[in-house]
Amino acid sequence: MQRRPLLAGNWKMHTTIAEAEKLAAAILQSPIPTDRDVMLAPPFTALNAVSRTLSGSSVILGAQNVCWEVKGAFTGEISPPMLKDAGCSMVIIGHSERRHIFAENDEMINKRVNGALHHGLIPVLCIGETLDERQADQTFKVLEKQLRNGLNGISLENGEQLIVAYEPVWAIGTGKTATVEQAQEVHLFLRDLLAVIYEKNIASQIRILYGGSVTPDNVDELMSQNDVDGALVGGAALKAESFNLIINFKK
Ligand code: 13P
Repeated sequence: MQRRPLLAGNWKMHTTIAEAEKLAAAILQSPIPTDRDVMLAPPFTALNAVSRTLSGSSVILGAQNVCWEVKGAFTGEISPPMLKDAGCSMVIIGHSERRHIFAENDEMINKRVNGALHHGLIPVLCIGETLDERQADQTFKVLEKQLRNGLNGISLENGEQLIVAYEPVWAIGTGKTATVEQAQEVHLFLRDLLAVIYEKNIASQIRILYGGSVTPDNVDELMSQNDVDGALVGGAALKAESFNLIINFKK
């Protein structure tokens, strides 16, 4: 099964509106190879402006979180239709910073995934183990729980409706990348698990991204792995020069 590579930039809590427009425009300066997808996830405040900058290009706009409700008394939340209105077609859900800094749990994350799908947004469901969990040999147990709970009760018509991102917490913003063997081992485990939750055909269509200190120097090797279908990039996505190198990874 050929899955289209996806290179995604998670800008986290960076960029003013003007900086976001400038970064998006700089990323568009280099031609994007037609055999891969690129997604940018600026902060909420810059979505609309970046959507305008990206119009007419193939670059996909994503958000960094989403509520499960459409509207109402949910102070601080943004609904799926609001994201669509701002030009988004993807949304990152369950990022480790949401889980660990803002105490989001699997149940909440599952509702967000459900809400996104219900409104035609593609969820990028993030999962990952901490260093303690890895050292205690709990990696697969933790990932299985996060994936099963995150997808609880969620049916898919095809595997293109969902993206999973494996982001080991110990590799995020630390400069420590998982080895390619560690990444491939986990991605294969996740794909097999997706085949149990759904079915083999659907699992083979679901893109599984790796995230955690991805740079232009390690992207080629990571992308050479069978089950690594893309990258969710933090720090290196904030500079057009490094993100463009990542977009242009060599097969
Ligand atoms: P870094 O690439 O800065 O390690 O961040 C990864 C990440 O959290 C992307 O969502």
